[in-house]
Amino acid sequence: MPTGTTLSDADFVVVANRLPVDLEKLPDGSQRWKRSPGGLVTALEPMLRSREGAWVGWPGLADADVEPLVEDGLQLYPVRLSAREVEDYYEGFSNGTLWPLYHDVVAPPAFHRHWWQAYVRVNERFAEVVAEVASRNATVWIQDYQLQLLPAALRKLRPDLRIGFFLHIPFPPTELFMQLPWRRRIIEGLLGADLVGFHTPGGVRNFRWLATRLTDAIPGHGRTEVTFGGRTVKLGAFPISIDSAALDQLSRTPEVLERAKQIRSDLGEPEKVVLGVDRLDYTKGIDVRLRALEELLTEGRVSADDVVMIQLATPSRERVEHYQKMRNDIEQSVGRINGEYARVGHPAVHYLHQSLPREELAAFFVAADVMLVTPLRDGMNLVAKEYVACRHDNGGVLVLSEFTGAAHELKEAILVNPHDTDGVKNALQVALTMPAEEGQKRMRALRRQVLTHDVDRWARSFLDALGLPPAEGAAS
Ligand code: ADP
Ligand code: G6P
Repeated sequence: MPTGTTLSDADFVVVANRLPVDLEKLPDGSQRWKRSPGGLVTALEPMLRSREGAWVGWPGLADADVEPLVEDGLQLYPVRLSAREVEDYYEGFSNGTLWPLYHDVVAPPAFHRHWWQAYVRVNERFAEVVAEVASRNATVWIQDYQLQLLPAALRKLRPDLRIGFFLHIPFPPTELFMQLPWRRRIIEGLLGADLVGFHTPGGVRNFRWLATRLTDAIPGHGRTEVTFGGRTVKLGAFPISIDSAALDQLSRTPEVLERAKQIRSDLGEPEKVVLGVDRLDYTKGIDVRLRALEELLTEGRVSADDVVMIQLATPSRERVEHYQKMRNDIEQSVGRINGEYARVGHPAVHYLHQSLPREELAAFFVAADVMLVTPLRDGMNLVAKEYVACRHDNGGVLVLSEFTGAAHELKEAILVNPHDTDGVKNALQVALTMPAEEGQKRMRALRRQVLTHDVDRWARSFLDALGLPPAEGAAS
């Protein structure tokens, strides 16, 4: 984890709410760094390491005074947040207002003026830090919904910079976005960038419509640009991905293969292992899959003697109310299902509220016959791609929600509407009984997609559109 410091102005700067490592306070009062949760870090870390850039972000603890540091060639510049700012900017406006609003209001967003004010203040602080760190004419790549005011705030301080912005979550339908009391400010904030990227063309369309209705932006030549303040702002769809080759390699190692066997043996060699892997978030539809399994067990369409479900859930945003409620509901469902259908030593559902190392996660993917990915809404969902990358044996069946960005690319998965419980039940049953040959045919096609569309390709297409030359030594 982080060591030494040899810092210099950076030509390429990534800015995200979080650093790729998270400072953790241990019960004895000491601190240690651990990997940050979520898909953003999974995707960006390998890309940035190959470019030896700088990363500006929050170290994950309130009131932490951390000096800039170098980790494995990557320069990390911490941005300090006070306890109050963590409450109002991070838990409040970012995750109590924007997150639910942008995810189809699957939970009701709350609108509070003091949350908004903290969001403005913290975005301005990020701008000040980046303005210090970036060298003259540097490229700055801003990430995600927590920093939507940053492109304009930074441009004001440093008009020499080339600024890109990528949104990792869905950009909402215009009717929903219009609920936001500060809607024009957000759009103007984003228009400070030279390029604004989304996962899907739908995101581009919604943003373009809003920009031309809510601000002085006028449509540009193509459908993928607008003119604002005398500048051209490019828009584009860039579906994010994973380091597919690295995961494919990892899943072939003897250690991972051995561990996968061990997992199945620890489970009592069930006929079928069903897996869910998510941050514990109400958008992920963990309740949807538990309900489907419970009903199939109740109706006798599935037997707990043959089928075991594992749900791995990374702890997330634990002080936000919706998250606390969802965790209680899920843990109750797991308890109820096991109370009804488990035998001593043989739970029907194994639930781990833990974050696991990559190797261990890969072993679970290799061990699972069916992967259930059932979000009510998800910008991309990298877990679905990770499962596919790990199935070098062409085994395993992916059940995937239509409401994920991944569903646009992974068409050979069994696609489901997570709001349709009967549909999810049927899909799970189809997956559990799918003939091996058909499963392999589908998995081969999925692997072709995931292995050829990796995170490097994603980053290159974004940075090409932004006009940044390829990194030295990067494959073309
Ligand atoms: P999100 O970004 O909303 O969390 P994604 O599916 O895009 O959703 O990315 C989640 C990332 O977190 C993936 O890289 C996945 O492997 C990782 N992850 C999810 N659950 C766990 C877990 N229990 N332990 C370790 N990593 C996890
Ligand atoms: C998603 C978001 C990221 C966020 C991650 C983890 O991937 O798009 O911006 O960092 O979840 O959430 P957290 O709130 O813990 O940073």
